[in-house]
Amino acid sequence: MNHMKKLIDKLREERTLTSEEFAHLLSHYDDEALAYINQQAREVATVHFGQGVYIRGLIEISNYCRNNCNYCGIRKDNWRADRYRLSKEMIWDCCEHGYKLGFRSFVLQGGEDPKRSDNDMEEIIAEIRRRYPECAITLSIGEKPAKAYERYFMKGADRYLLRHETFNRGHYYCLHPYEMSNERRIKCLQELKRIGFQTGTGIMVGTPHQRVEFLIEDIRFIENFQPEMIGIGPFIPHQRTPFCDEKAGSVELTLLLLSIFRLMHPKALIPSTTALASLAPDGRIRGILAGANVVMPNLSPIIVRNKYNLYDQKVAFGAEAAEGLALLEKQLTAVGYHIDYSRGDYNN
Ligand code: 5AD
Repeated sequence: MNHMKKLIDKLREERTLTSEEFAHLLSHYDDEALAYINQQAREVATVHFGQGVYIRGLIEISNYCRNNCNYCGIRKDNWRADRYRLSKEMIWDCCEHGYKLGFRSFVLQGGEDPKRSDNDMEEIIAEIRRRYPECAITLSIGEKPAKAYERYFMKGADRYLLRHETFNRGHYYCLHPYEMSNERRIKCLQELKRIGFQTGTGIMVGTPHQRVEFLIEDIRFIENFQPEMIGIGPFIPHQRTPFCDEKAGSVELTLLLLSIFRLMHPKALIPSTTALASLAPDGRIRGILAGANVVMPNLSPIIVRNKYNLYDQKVAFGAEAAEGLALLEKQLTAVGYHIDYSRGDYNN
């Protein structure tokens, strides 16, 4: 433990480690080391964010997708998926509902829906911006030409989430079909940043064929890219995908990585993800206690909430739901935290 503790102290102090040290930490951590790094990460988060946890209302705007990612339940070839596309009015209604509940930050997430034009997106964004000038608008709708990103930004979108999923090229092609490209994805991230979005990236933990070396490549990529937001969640298999028989990622390894990212990026906005909450009943809170400072309750219309199934057993009700803020607050209070209702920008 002494060696582990030294590594973790060094990581907190210097905000980085050598690749050998990362490899050691990722391969040999035990319960005690995990508890220690979670506590260190929690302290660092508290310095910047106090005991507050930001909330974002997550609106899942469409589950149509032109891509065929091997892990994802809304991949194009899943003909059993019950497809939907929220109308503009429905999206605005979600925002109104969320605003009344106290949300000041909305995330519009969806598959890469070929039938949702950029004109439509512009109109959706502009109207939200008009109605709620003080709210943050985050998009998470995949890879688009830089021109499209610019148009969204001009209409008032502030933030964009696009996980790189894995940096290693070989591993990327284990997870994605050949028509996709990790270079294009990284290029999209660079464009988003150049345009001025607060940009989020991140990975799934425990995808098939993932190795410690690849995780270190992800850590280095994120260290160089310096995103404002970092999303990390465990991989969870979906029965209608090529990965249906694969094992889910580990909750512990996810919590370890969460803490590593917190220690390396003290000011980053790091959510305790829905995937983590779906895999363990107390996953949401354990994420907070590992240094996360954001949660994204589901604000989609109730009738579509069971259709945006990226993986099996995804939670969307109770403390995961926008209507469950009281329950979320209660769970947070029990561990000394509270909801922070401000829009929660990245603060440098
Ligand atoms: N398990 C966990 N996370 C998943 N995502 C997609 N499919 C799965 C899955 N089976 C994640 C991806 C994507 C985000 C919106 O959801 O990382 O970027």
